[in-house]
Amino acid sequence: MRKVEFLDTTLRDGEQTPGVNFSIKEKVAIAKQLEKWGISSIEAGFPAASPDSFEAVKQIAAAMTTTAVSGLARSVKSDIDACYEAIKDAKFPQCHVFIATSPIHREFKLKKSKEEILDIIKEHVTYARTKFDVVEFSPEDATRTELDYLLQVVQTAVDAGATYINIPDTVGFTTPAEFGHIFEYLIANVKSDREIVFSPHCHDDLGMATANTLAAIKAGAGRVEGTVNGIGERAGNVALEEVAVALNIREDFYQASSPLVLNETVNTSEMVSRYSGIAIPKNKAVVGGNAFSHESGIHQDGVLKNPLTYEIITPELVGVKANSLPLGKLSGRHAFVEKIKELGLAFEESELAQLFAKFKKLADKKHEITDADIRALVTGTDIENPEGFRFNDLSITSNADGSVTAAISMINIDGEEVEVLANGKGSVEAIFNAIDKFFNQTVRLESYNIEAVTDGIDAQARVLVSVENVDTDTIFNASGLDFDVLKASAIAYVNANALVQKENAGEIGHKVSEHDYPTN
Ligand code: KIV
Ligand code: ZN
Repeated sequence: MRKVEFLDTTLRDGEQTPGVNFSIKEKVAIAKQLEKWGISSIEAGFPAASPDSFEAVKQIAAAMTTTAVSGLARSVKSDIDACYEAIKDAKFPQCHVFIATSPIHREFKLKKSKEEILDIIKEHVTYARTKFDVVEFSPEDATRTELDYLLQVVQTAVDAGATYINIPDTVGFTTPAEFGHIFEYLIANVKSDREIVFSPHCHDDLGMATANTLAAIKAGAGRVEGTVNGIGERAGNVALEEVAVALNIREDFYQASSPLVLNETVNTSEMVSRYSGIAIPKNKAVVGGNAFSHESGIHQDGVLKNPLTYEIITPELVGVKANSLPLGKLSGRHAFVEKIKELGLAFEESELAQLFAKFKKLADKKHEITDADIRALVTGTDIENPEGFRFNDLSITSNADGSVTAAISMINIDGEEVEVLANGKGSVEAIFNAIDKFFNQTVRLESYNIEAVTDGIDAQARVLVSVENVDTDTIFNASGLDFDVLKASAIAYVNANALVQKENAGEIGHKVSEHDYPTN
């Protein structure tokens, strides 16, 4: 049985998702959870992109004890220098150098010949090796690169000292059979007296990212790259939880295993969903809300007789606790803390009083507090805005002309209340108009979604919004959680506006992707 390493790029490629802007605190919290999940290496960011990215990578490098930390660098010396400065204190530092190699990227993006690109690879991988013992090299858009040239590219990087060779399917173009063949060909033909580890890096444009990644493993890949919940640009990256569980369930076929602590999967997935503001689709493999529900009579009958009739993955495998006792109104602080620990949720001691107060408030309204409620409560995020305001309360009045008036109460940093009123055709519109008036900045609502955290009429509502900062075109996702759907909507919209306000105050760097840069 081979052990396949897992590299998580949620904080780098995953953050390229429109609307996703993790704060540094959130990035460190996610990195700690990834370490707990058993991830081998974290690609923590692109340090040269902005001071914010640099700082986040530096803090993650300092926080990891068993997991390796990597940073992305174009084939540019200043990028490699930034990567070194951010990562040098990590216990296990790595650097990921890339350059595009496909004909379309060579001609239109880089305007460089094949030979010029080989020279750049040699120079920059050699340079990276003067600073890092472990260097990964990626030929961007590898799957649309001529195979004989791809071999030359990879051989050049290996000769210059790269140990990990990553083969990105940058535009999600390949198929399982084709990708498997690329890996077999490279593994058979690249010459080296050191062990070289090959990895797939798949995007999901044609819905084949998981299948392609597994095909690469079958063909001999020793590491995989992907993100939690498959977040990422366009259709996203491969979802690491899907790859890990597929290896577990089909160990007989793949003869390879992941290093992941699978029962930390749901905690990891929910944390990333909350901080990214991207809901997990109900029908998503492995972590979707319906993954373990059986609707049809025939299936229910079969599952009751023997769960394995229709259930190849048990809920317990990925961390959904069976027969877990719900908490209620009478549960005390001790029971609450025990439950958080039982669910494996990370929390700071200093946050406990506030979390317990939130729990008590919820227990006043909801008969049974389930594990999903507790997870949502503990990992919920209130985004601080530069002026220190927070949402307090709201009330709604229906007017004779059919319109609605919303009164929003906000509390400032000194604990003083500020109230704003606005009208709208419906409650949500009136609430959002009042919040717009409060923040006085130009935002456009892109999307608004409500989901119930648990089943039943007394479920907590999670509202997810995406707004655009009209002045910068940046999209921000944010979420709000409350027993009352209107309050959850207000919290989500306040959180999104807080992000816009932070961007306007220069506290969030304009999001820069490696693709925004002219390479070399
Ligand atoms: O998809 C891609 O090509 C990338 C590279 C930078 C590895 O993310
Ligand atoms: Zn990518």
